[in-house]
Amino acid sequence: MSVFKVKAIQSLQAEFSVPGDKSMSHRAAMIAGISNGDCLIRNFLPSEDCLNTLKAMGALGVSYTILEELEGFGPTVIRISGRKMKLLKSPMPIDCGNSGTGMRLLAGLLAAQPFDTELFGDESLSSRPMGRIINPLAQMGAEIHARGEKAGCAPLVIRGKELQPITYEMPVASAQVKSAILLAGMFCEGKTTVIQPAETRDHTERMLAAFGVRTEREGNAITLHGGQCPDARDFRVPGDISSAAFWIVAAAALQGSRLLIQDVGLNESRNAIISVMVRMGAKISDRVHNQEDGEPIGNIEICGRGLTGTVIRPEEVPNLIDEIPVIAVAAALAEGKTVIRNAKELRVKETDRITTVVKNLRLMGAEVEEFDDGMEIIGGKPLHGAVLQSYGDHRIAMAFAIAGLFAEGETIIENTDCVNTSYPGFEKHLSAIMKEKTDPQAYVLKTIKHEKAWD
Ligand code: S3P
Repeated sequence: MSVFKVKAIQSLQAEFSVPGDKSMSHRAAMIAGISNGDCLIRNFLPSEDCLNTLKAMGALGVSYTILEELEGFGPTVIRISGRKMKLLKSPMPIDCGNSGTGMRLLAGLLAAQPFDTELFGDESLSSRPMGRIINPLAQMGAEIHARGEKAGCAPLVIRGKELQPITYEMPVASAQVKSAILLAGMFCEGKTTVIQPAETRDHTERMLAAFGVRTEREGNAITLHGGQCPDARDFRVPGDISSAAFWIVAAAALQGSRLLIQDVGLNESRNAIISVMVRMGAKISDRVHNQEDGEPIGNIEICGRGLTGTVIRPEEVPNLIDEIPVIAVAAALAEGKTVIRNAKELRVKETDRITTVVKNLRLMGAEVEEFDDGMEIIGGKPLHGAVLQSYGDHRIAMAFAIAGLFAEGETIIENTDCVNTSYPGFEKHLSAIMKEKTDPQAYVLKTIKHEKAWD
């Protein structure tokens, strides 16, 4: 079981890029896999979550060739041959690992396939709510059984059926639920509409559009016309802003720092971390330099000037839901009070992230009050090193590695293998930052070029 040993830094002057976006990599594997031909996916994220989705598509009959790999992790450039909407029955149950996105989106994709599929996951995924996708998919005519020990939880058995389009008002603001319904809607005749209670990340809609599948948006309602097969095309995945967020906070909290993160996704439904850190006092410029493939990509430059507390607005929460653990760390480092409410969804992520964040912040000496739907942090008290659990949650491990960069003494984070579910190479970047390296080469993750089939 690996651990992070983190010590305080005095300076952060660096330029580097982070691996590909997790949300988009899942979607690229799925949408390319049902397209009508060969698609080259570049900068795919070789994290455990996305590799599980890629392997799932392989088990469902999609063939692919690996052209480049991130050394020690897995494929980054892949040629995927789409199956024109018709997948094959998997010879065995499909392992979604730790990934809610993988399981929920695959359920949508499989709901209309004429065979049964079983999806299972690890302990964390087996305790996360699946009723949120089972209910709307059942309204469309799908038959999905949640066979978990906990009611409404995985393993899921999906018995493919002919589906009917629906108009569905989502009770929670979830891009995963929206995407599962839209993917299922592709197999229906007629219009499927999903109404969101608040805007959620729109990668599915954008990627479908890039692959020639029309959706329409009216306010927070998204409509998809069924019966369209994605047109094969190439897609480049931008860097993951949720991975960049750890370094954005580190740089923002350190007076005199300068950090440039290159080629990161700047989709407006994901970039609230930037406006929040600016509100907290950081000087940040973000510039889109590329709009190809329907997703804005650009560089983010952060100059640290110290932080002050803020109030996270309710409408910002879905946009920065994955960044809240590291925002809570920023809040502990800021002067004054930060309020994070309307974020009950955090309780059903890889861990209950309200509990795990509050526990770890307190162990480091921060003043924090827990609420059912969030927390209030009185920042500015010096943090001290501690022995912390990741609780097997990648974002908890990484958020508290950032806290350790500002704590007196050593911070030890236990059970850190989980960071590979979203950020292969995090440890290398952390170690270069702890050594205060300014040479960009110190941050480069090594790729290997070769052509091979998946083994
Ligand atoms: C994701 C959506 C979010 C996010 C998750 C990835 C996606 O979940 O927390 O890490 O790729 O659609 P919800 O949409 O369920 O909030």
